[in-house]
Amino acid sequence: MIKLDISNVWGDLSLPDLLATEQEVFNAHKLLADGKGPGNDFLGWLNLPTFEETDEMRRIRRAAEKIRSDSDIFVVVGIGGSYLGPRAAIELVKGQNHNLRGKDPQVFFAGNNLSTRAWQELCALLEGKDFSINIISKSGTTTEPAIATRALRWMLERKYGAEKAKKRIYVTTDPNKGALRQMATEEGYETFVIPPNVGGRYSVLTAVGLLPMAVAGISPVDVMLGAARARKELDVRSFENPAWQYAAIRNLLYRKGKSIEMLCCYEPSFRYFAGWWQQLFGESEGKDGKGIFPATAEFTADLHSLGQMIQQGERNLFETVVRFTPPRKKTSIEVDWKNLDGLNYLEGKTLDFVEEQAFQGTLSAHVDGGVPVMVLQTDEVDADTLGELFYFFELSCGISAYMLGVNPFNQPGVEFYKKNMFKLLGKPGY
Ligand code: PA5
Repeated sequence: MIKLDISNVWGDLSLPDLLATEQEVFNAHKLLADGKGPGNDFLGWLNLPTFEETDEMRRIRRAAEKIRSDSDIFVVVGIGGSYLGPRAAIELVKGQNHNLRGKDPQVFFAGNNLSTRAWQELCALLEGKDFSINIISKSGTTTEPAIATRALRWMLERKYGAEKAKKRIYVTTDPNKGALRQMATEEGYETFVIPPNVGGRYSVLTAVGLLPMAVAGISPVDVMLGAARARKELDVRSFENPAWQYAAIRNLLYRKGKSIEMLCCYEPSFRYFAGWWQQLFGESEGKDGKGIFPATAEFTADLHSLGQMIQQGERNLFETVVRFTPPRKKTSIEVDWKNLDGLNYLEGKTLDFVEEQAFQGTLSAHVDGGVPVMVLQTDEVDADTLGELFYFFELSCGISAYMLGVNPFNQPGVEFYKKNMFKLLGKPGY
C-alpha cells in the first residue's frame, strides 16, 4: 500500500499547520464523495474500480486477445486524457523499449500531435505489417485524432478491403454522443464506452486505458484490483489517509509561496506516468488565476540539468518523489583488476544500493537547499501498483482541487487555442 513520508516538508510548515487543515480536507473529501461540489456530474471515476469483473472488462480481454493474435502493431489514436493514461501504463510496466521486446504486439501512438514527420515515421513503421487501431475520443470531434483516424481508416481499407478493415478498428468513445459514436455505429466497429460522467483525464481505468494495456500484455484485471484496493483503503476520513496528507501539504506549501511541484522518479519508464499526472493536476487545478504548476523530473538524469535550479534557484518549488520497491533480480557492480575508472570501491554493490544512496543524498541536499520533499513509497512496478497509483492520484487531485477552491473537472482554458486554430483553418462556424 502507498505510504507518504512527510518528514521532509517541515521548514516553512509545522505539524500544527497541517492538523489545522483537518476540517478543510474533511470538507473537500466529503464534497467529492457526496457529489455536492462543482463539476459533480463528472464523478463516475470515483466508483470505477471494482473487485468483480464487468462485462466491459470481459469484452476488453476478448478484443485484446484477437488483436494480439492478428496484429503486429496496434495504433492507439487519441490526445490528452485519451492518450496519456494508456501510454503511462504501458511504458511504466513494460518499459520504455517495450516495442523492441518482440513478444507482444508493438504499440504506437498517433493523433497526439500535428507533426508531418511523426506521421510519416508511423506510416513507414506500418509498411508491410498487420495492424489494428483503437480510436479513443470522448467527444469524437478532437482535431488531432480525427485527422489521424481518417488516414488510418483509409490505410486499413486499402490493405484489407472495407469489410475486413472494420474488424481491425476499435472505438472507445461516449456511449451515445459524438461523431465517432455515429461513425462506429454506421460502419459497425467494435466499441467500448467512456461513461458520460468520466472526464478525459480521469478515464484511464475505463477501456481508454485498459484495452491498450491488455493488448500490450498488462492484465487489466490486476490493474483494476490494485485500483479497487486503493479505493477501499483510501476511503478513510483522517490524516492516516495518504491522499489527505498529499492534498493538504501541497495546498499548504502553495499558500507559503511554493507554486511549483516537481514529480520526480528514479525510473526512466515513469516519464509518461509523470506526463499523465501533469495533465491530471494541471487541467484540474490550473484555473481562476490559481494552481500549482505541475513539473516533472527524471532522476538521476535531470540532476545533471534541472538539479542546479532545484538546489539554488528561486525557492518556489517542492518535490514529490515516487519510490518503487526495487526488483528482486539484482545487478551487481563487478571488480576490474586494473581499476582504471576508480570504481572498485563499489565492487560487489548492487545498482539498487547505488541508486538508494543517490536518492538519499539528493533528498538531504534538496531539503537543506530549502525544497520541501514528500516521498511516496509504493510496491514493485506491476499492474496492481499501477492501478493503485492511478486511483491515489485521482482521489488526491479531487480533494486538493476542492481545497484550492476550483472545479477539478472542467478545462475551459483548453478551448482558446482551438478557437484561434479553427478560425485560421477556416472551419465552418468559426
Ligand atoms: O481531460 C480532458 O478532458 C482532455 O484532456 C481530453 O481528454 C482531450 O482534450 C481529448 O478529448 P477527447 O477525448 O474528447 O478527444
